[in-house]
Amino acid sequence: MASANRGQWSGKTAFILAAAGSAIGLGNIWRFPYTAGENGGGAFVLLYLGFVLLVGIPVILAELAIGRKTEKNPVGAFKALVPDSLWPYLGGLGVATGFGILAFYAVLAGWTLSYLYGAVTGIYGGVMTAAESQALFEHLIGDPTLTIILTGAFILLTILVVRKGVSGGIELTTKILMPVLLVILLILAVRSVTLPGGMDGLVYLFKPDFSKINGVVIMSALGQALFSLSLGMGAMITYGSYFPKTENIFQAGIAVALFDTLIAVLAGIIIFPALFSVGVAPDSGPGLVFVVLPSIFGSLPAGQLFAIAFYALLSIAALTSTISLLEVVVAYFVDEKGWTRNKASWLLGSLCFVLAVPSALSSGGAAMFTDFLGTGMDFLSINNIIWGNYSLSIGAIMLCVFVGWKWGIPAALESLESSGHKLPSSKGLGILIKYVCPVAVGIVLVYIVVTQQYF
Ligand code: TRP
Repeated sequence: MASANRGQWSGKTAFILAAAGSAIGLGNIWRFPYTAGENGGGAFVLLYLGFVLLVGIPVILAELAIGRKTEKNPVGAFKALVPDSLWPYLGGLGVATGFGILAFYAVLAGWTLSYLYGAVTGIYGGVMTAAESQALFEHLIGDPTLTIILTGAFILLTILVVRKGVSGGIELTTKILMPVLLVILLILAVRSVTLPGGMDGLVYLFKPDFSKINGVVIMSALGQALFSLSLGMGAMITYGSYFPKTENIFQAGIAVALFDTLIAVLAGIIIFPALFSVGVAPDSGPGLVFVVLPSIFGSLPAGQLFAIAFYALLSIAALTSTISLLEVVVAYFVDEKGWTRNKASWLLGSLCFVLAVPSALSSGGAAMFTDFLGTGMDFLSINNIIWGNYSLSIGAIMLCVFVGWKWGIPAALESLESSGHKLPSSKGLGILIKYVCPVAVGIVLVYIVVTQQYF
């Protein structure tokens, strides 16, 4: 309803920074490098870039079109477009997914705070062997009190921004943090490629070896594209709902996708040369930035400074992402239930903290959650699979079905072009949204169900 007091971005740039802040996160700087490393480097990167173009950009535009047209949270948006239908439940799934992702993402984000603290206090300044670094990591993630405190601290930071609203909280924070992030990244990239032997890392990252492509690599690349761009749960519906009516939303959406992709590639440019320079295998898995990098920093000149910069970067990127996850949930309770933003932020943030505790305890803190219900998997990983894989994939397919087949491409185009800026190829976008995206994501979904291989 009262769209006037929901808040609005001050302009296109503010939206781009906030939405890129959402998209750029642990997904780019932590998940992308280790996934690329596990999946053969260049070939994975090439597929990932292809999926950003063919799936990521159409889905981001589909979400933005819905948000801009309705100026609502995901549930309210579907209610406004198709009242008396089941579609608002798709919005409801999105809100629940925001909650579900935040409840495990905040745990990982909490680890970054601890590494930042460790870098500042000099723990990563000295030379450390890989075994020492591994022991330090396991000690941290297995400490029940510490992980709970760190998770709580990260959710608290998130609440403090979201309660301040769209322009006074999110816009202000991302306007300051995103340029800082970019500068840190560029400095680190220059440092890394000039390391002796660093060039081999770039070759690994950019020279595709097509023999490495298989089902898992393709699925991982598509999954990475969706997660990294924050798609499939209405985050971009929500951020698009605050977009000023007079500005070019199509261009802004493309800018966000390019920005996000650029940062993932830059993270690769930082990490792979560093790995190759000290002879560490690129397929070290999820521990890459937490276990491998500290031992590298220790052996670099001014290593401590680079360590501080890197973990500051990781924390900043994670914060601008957790903000968007909480914002989707808060927007729903503000728009639909009439809560004040302050109340919604504190109550929902606190509830999410409670739900995050089992994930915080699932890397050694409590045996019950480390091997959850005898599945052999920890609670955090299970949540990542449910919310981060299944729910986002289902959400992305249904969003495309909705825009392509129910609401209709002409209506979506009208929303994207409502500021008077025409799209370069509206026909191509229609084909992508109606056919290419749902089929591509559908294949991934069937594949992960059948093979139980998770990206
Ligand atoms: N895209 C973020 C990352 O790369 C994570 C994220 C934030 C997200 N909001 C989201 C993922 C919404 C999916 C949906 O780290």
